[in-house]
Amino acid sequence: MAATATCAADDHNPYAADPKAGKAGEYEFRINCALCHGLGAHGGGRGPDLTQAQKKHAHSDAELFQVISNGIPGTVMPANGTNGQGVGMTDEEIWQIITYIRSVEVKAPAKPAGSAAHGKELFYGDANCSLCHMVEGRGGRLGPELTGVGGSRTREAIIDSVRNPSRRLAWGLTEATKEFPQEYETVAVVTADGKEIKGVALNEDNFSVQMMDASEQIFLLEKDELRSFKKTRESMMPTYNADLLSDKDLEDVVAYLVSVAAK
Ligand code: HEC
Ligand code: HEC
Repeated sequence: MAATATCAADDHNPYAADPKAGKAGEYEFRINCALCHGLGAHGGGRGPDLTQAQKKHAHSDAELFQVISNGIPGTVMPANGTNGQGVGMTDEEIWQIITYIRSVEVKAPAKPAGSAAHGKELFYGDANCSLCHMVEGRGGRLGPELTGVGGSRTREAIIDSVRNPSRRLAWGLTEATKEFPQEYETVAVVTADGKEIKGVALNEDNFSVQMMDASEQIFLLEKDELRSFKKTRESMMPTYNADLLSDKDLEDVVAYLVSVAAK
């Protein structure tokens, strides 16, 4: 294999526009990347659409190589070879994937849908999202921080999270593909003196559980002192059906989250 580390420093893909390399790259992509970035690189539940020519982290081929080799620290984008796929891809295979990504890019920017300004009003107002979610340092902490979500997940995936909150939680993601350090499983307990508490699990071991309720109060409880302990993968997030939040309003909220992530 001639392609070595020197390739990474070089901004030149030795397989650029080679249809055979693109085909091989597509195959590699399906095995290593489609899980998060979707088939056809159109984006999936856990990774952004890579067919957009306007990318956030990687512009040149060399930057793409860098991102695919080293991952993106602080996000679930894994470094090559750390995603349970054995030793990972060779440099040649990475360049082939880049050839493939270039071949599916669409030059036209996605047309803006929804009003970010109205979405922001809804997020902090009538839709109550900020009760549980922090964006740019403002909001609640029961649910995950959402400042970057508009860049790391597709519009469709965010919409699905709002319409069907428990779905992703129910998947039970494995460590390597988990997007939050915490899983947000729902815990309902009854204490020895009969008090009922419901919230998300922050930490848990065999003997104790630390949880946060909807008013962000934190409890550390010994399990053997509880009258009952129930853990479910039913989200604390309410299901927002179309009566609660119309398609148009949801589009605006997503436009807001995308605008924040693009900053
Ligand atoms: C476990 C899920 C996961 C896997 C597997 C994964 N990615 Fe990613 N990838 C992400 C996420 C999430 C981001 C966005 C990070 C962010 O900006 O928050 C990302 C970002 C990227 C970016 C940067 C996009 C931009 O706009 O700059 C590229 C390029 C990329 N991934 C390529 C790949 C390739 C190629 C593979 C397979 C070899 C792969 N990814 C595998 C989750 C994943
Ligand atoms: C009562 C608290 C609560 C409210 C209100 C709430 N959420 Fe959530 N949300 C959660 C919790 C807990 C999770 C994590 C578990 C899960 O995935 O369902 C979550 C998960 C999510 C996710 C998936 C995480 C991710 O990074 O993609 C998105 C997106 C989301 N919420 C958006 C919203 C939006 C938009 C609103 C307002 C329309 C909202 N939430 C209202 C508690 C809430």
